[in-house]
Amino acid sequence: MDFRKIADSYGTPLYIYDFDYITRRYLELKEAFKARKSIVFYALKANSNLSVLKHLRDLGAGCDCVSIGEVKRALFVGVPKYKIIFSGVGKCDAEIKEALLNDILMINLESFEEMLRVESIAKELEKVARISVRVNPNIDAKTHPYISTGLHENKFGVDIQTAKKIYLKAKQSNFLDPVGIHFHIGSQILEIEPFKEASKIVSDLVRSLNALNIELKFFDIGGGLGIDYNGEKTIDPYAYAQAVLENLSGLDVTLACEPGRYLVGNSGYFLTKVLYEKENSHKRFVIVDGAMNDLLRPALYNTFHKVELLESKNRPDSTLLCDVVGPICESGDFFIKDIKLPKTKHDDLIVVHSAGAYGFSMSSNYNSRPRVAEVAYESGKYRLIRQRESFEDLISKEISFLNSEKSE
Ligand SMILES: Cc1ncc(COP(=O)(O)O)c(C=O)c1O
Repeated sequence: MDFRKIADSYGTPLYIYDFDYITRRYLELKEAFKARKSIVFYALKANSNLSVLKHLRDLGAGCDCVSIGEVKRALFVGVPKYKIIFSGVGKCDAEIKEALLNDILMINLESFEEMLRVESIAKELEKVARISVRVNPNIDAKTHPYISTGLHENKFGVDIQTAKKIYLKAKQSNFLDPVGIHFHIGSQILEIEPFKEASKIVSDLVRSLNALNIELKFFDIGGGLGIDYNGEKTIDPYAYAQAVLENLSGLDVTLACEPGRYLVGNSGYFLTKVLYEKENSHKRFVIVDGAMNDLLRPALYNTFHKVELLESKNRPDSTLLCDVVGPICESGDFFIKDIKLPKTKHDDLIVVHSAGAYGFSMSSNYNSRPRVAEVAYESGKYRLIRQRESFEDLISKEISFLNSEKSE
């Protein structure tokens, strides 16, 4: 990819995604699960740009959504409703209603109370809600505590006993149809064992439900496959598929998975330009035009993204390590700390790698910074897939109130 050309054409800061990479990752995962009927439900919280969704839809992916806004995005780009799952620990009434009216594949329940709520809304609408239960198998995914979700200390899902109660109640209800079972134990997981253990626990539950005449169609293993940010050894997709499938023998279920980061994480780059460099008595800072509102992960999780200075050949080396930081008034506003970079100058281009997942989708307007543009790279060509926001975009939801105040 010609990062300089992209930056010159579309400005910085900017996200760029390699759609051919996304295709390869999707096909690789489908191939790994080919021994069984499977559906990849892309977790669009990782990157919900409409063009990314359309690209994955064209490949055959469904969508895993965690808000009605995400469900609507998926429907908007034509993802078939029977390939849309609605997950999330706290869905409100209006969201449940809209999901039911749209007849999506299933709603993943996360509590007994939520089941009662979904049942009563389905009854009001004279519909039958297809449901799945998110089981919390109490397994340590050995990842960052903020993205670990499969332990009883985490707010997600229900324990095995509660799951059974939900299925038994749902089975008797005229307004609920239990069709699936679900777990998602965390994100950026690099060890296969937690997936193996979770699949074993949850498949045993499916067998005990079968014995109670509750037959499920979908075995949903969530997302969580880790990616290489800093040379980490990642899980081979075939080994992953094997670890899950070996627990499913004798079960007539379709395998569902919900990868987010795995599909898009390493497709993406964040481009930012150097504004200034400065040094004090013990620290050197490279100040760039991108900031934590554009890419929050380093500030939120203190996570590593490879940072590269382009066109750094023939530059004098600087002996001092530096922090690459944004202009926001927060000490957490950094991309990387204590890195060796040659001396930089104004307008130098910096590439932040592995920025395709939880990058733009976590971005905000903090400090009244317009959200950045997004560009797709596919078959050797670039195209804009989200316009950079303007000042008018920033104030559009407030301006009419200002005018009414004036006239009072
Ligand atoms: C229910 C659910 N499924 C899938 C995912 C996607 O996870 P990842 O991007 O790690 O694959 C998440 C992320 O938190 C999630 O909460």
